[in-house]
Amino acid sequence: MYGQDADQVRKQAMSLTREQAAQRVEKLVPELIRHNRLYHVEATPEIDDRSYDLLYRELELLESRFPDLVRDDSPTLRVGDEPVPELTPFAHRTPMLSLSNAFSADELRDFDARLKRILGDGAPEHITYSVEPKLDGLALNLVYEHGELIAGGTRGDGSIGEDVTHNVRTIRAIPERLAGEGLPSRISIRGEVFFPLDGFLRMNDIRSQRGDKPFENPRNAAAGTLRQLDPRVAAERPLTFLAYALGEVEGALMPGTHTAQIATVGAWGMPVNHALNRTVEGIEAVIDAIAELGEKRETLPYEIDGAVVKVDNLAQQDELGFVTRSPRWAIAFKYPPPRVHTVLENVGFQVGRTGAITPVAWLAPARVGGVTVSRATLHNEDQVRRLDLRVGDTVAIERSGDVIPKVVHVVPDEGHASRPEVAFPETCPECDHPVVREEGQAVLRCPNALSCPAQVRAAVRFFGSRRAMDIDGLGEKLVDQLVDTGLVKRVSDLYTLTVHDLTMLDRMGKRSAEKLIEAIARSKERNLERALAALGIPEVGESTARDVARHFHSLDAIIAASEEELVAVEGVGSIVAGKLRAFFDDPSQLAEVQRLRELGVAFPDIPEPDADAPTGDSPVAGKVFVLTGTLPTMARNDAKKLIEAAGGKVTGSVSAKTDFLVAGEAAGSKLAKATKLGVPVIDEAGLLQMLG
Ligand code: IVH
Repeated sequence: MYGQDADQVRKQAMSLTREQAAQRVEKLVPELIRHNRLYHVEATPEIDDRSYDLLYRELELLESRFPDLVRDDSPTLRVGDEPVPELTPFAHRTPMLSLSNAFSADELRDFDARLKRILGDGAPEHITYSVEPKLDGLALNLVYEHGELIAGGTRGDGSIGEDVTHNVRTIRAIPERLAGEGLPSRISIRGEVFFPLDGFLRMNDIRSQRGDKPFENPRNAAAGTLRQLDPRVAAERPLTFLAYALGEVEGALMPGTHTAQIATVGAWGMPVNHALNRTVEGIEAVIDAIAELGEKRETLPYEIDGAVVKVDNLAQQDELGFVTRSPRWAIAFKYPPPRVHTVLENVGFQVGRTGAITPVAWLAPARVGGVTVSRATLHNEDQVRRLDLRVGDTVAIERSGDVIPKVVHVVPDEGHASRPEVAFPETCPECDHPVVREEGQAVLRCPNALSCPAQVRAAVRFFGSRRAMDIDGLGEKLVDQLVDTGLVKRVSDLYTLTVHDLTMLDRMGKRSAEKLIEAIARSKERNLERALAALGIPEVGESTARDVARHFHSLDAIIAASEEELVAVEGVGSIVAGKLRAFFDDPSQLAEVQRLRELGVAFPDIPEPDADAPTGDSPVAGKVFVLTGTLPTMARNDAKKLIEAAGGKVTGSVSAKTDFLVAGEAAGSKLAKATKLGVPVIDEAGLLQMLG
């Protein structure tokens, strides 16, 4: 029977004594770390995913039975610590550079000739180059001290990025520890964080099912994920990492070529692109290597937008130096975006959440850049006319980064002239309401916001999405059914649904119906900023909703605010103010908001700042604590609550920013690190004293 192995693991884990469990944990942790490394770094897994999951599960069970057995290096800690309140600046000791571009073989030859000119008499006949895939993600700087990961930051402007350590620790490809000979006391390792294509596409499927907006491309998704405040979000997403350069190194002698340096960090456990990096002699060999890589491009498990060519010898690199933000000794060759031909089978019309009607190209399925596509956006009528698209035409489509391709042009053929031009609808394809064309705009719009099923579906999906009212279980398919069966004709109808209504739908059992009704009921209490964002007012997204809510403190004050008062809110311009006013001035929209309130949606006021808020006189206030080991009388979580109640902060790892380490029995690496960094170490009694 399926799942028997899991039951076995559970039974076994629950039967161990504390001592046996301790022994088992000591074996499981290094074993899981090893498999992690085999999978993410060496790409030679020894066990299948299921076996890994079972070992992981076993460790989780043991740790939950005996929380003091959780080791600092336990893989279970990589599921994300506490959210950080904001992203803080991260200063790069050596700047993170960007690269200039080349688009042709001749530009590469020019590059090589330029370098030889600068190197002068010392120039070799053939310069040795490293040729590497240019990964399409986000640059990340990792800092290791004595082999231990201490921080990670984004590139930012090259000198100062953002501290994303909390998210970096959830990326399994990034080792918490390096191991091996000759580890430096400090090393900065740079590389790319990115989504493999399959993981990215799977994640997007899950997002659409949940009613969240899919990401347009893996690069935006990676950037958005790394900048999340809550590391649990990053932990759920399949980000990975490959290292491609070093920053500063202290306390170790590194080899004299880029290739050997990358091999060295690879041997310490850093994931590097062993499979595709090439070291070659002379620019013609570079051009061949780039062509070879270009041929593999379609079959790679991740997207690359080019190849990076670097002078391999570090002494030569030094001699060549930099121009402003990029090194003279490296260049990025950009591949043209993948392009294929396919047939335009039809032009459909899609009605968006705000009623905009956009033409969509329906294509004969085609594989382009590792993804099968059958739709392309056409933006608006003007574009269709400009391209002179006709159903039945063969079209060239191009995909540069984004999942959804662009139609670039029609491939001329004899039949084109006799095919009819695309007809644009006079009435909404969803509700038959006459469409309008806003003055000076190329966009057609269905003005029937409150009863056009397409707009209602989109509004309900958005309302329930995680960023808005966060109604668990209200996925895309379910919303479609609710609207199509007429159970939900406007958003507020969600709050009149009953378990009985829901059980009439496909694949909806009593238990899931009850759960959904509970989730809907819970959403009534969402705070003002979310509830305001959930209304889906055009131009009023999450951050605008937050600014407006925090400025006015109540929904009634927002409804009553004049355009001038709205514009006074930081971040609100006249366009946004106009949209807010237009929304609340529309009697049917206002009636819908009032109905939501009558049905129990709270739109709770935000209290004015409290005069008796804790002042900063506790010695704990404003200080950063890390807790480690077993405290004699308190659970770590209780200690954490006490510190936070007194205005202090508790983080998961020791850094230069830590003010105190509270250490209990069996404190391990965190204690060692605090001692090393000179962070004061106190015990439970010391903490209680500080707390008074
Ligand atoms: S080397 C001085 N190597 O491309 C060295 N960069 O414009 C600078 N990138 O921000 C970077 N793959 O995010 C290097 N194999 C690779 C790369 C790579 C992708 C990105 C990187 C950087 C951008 C350069």
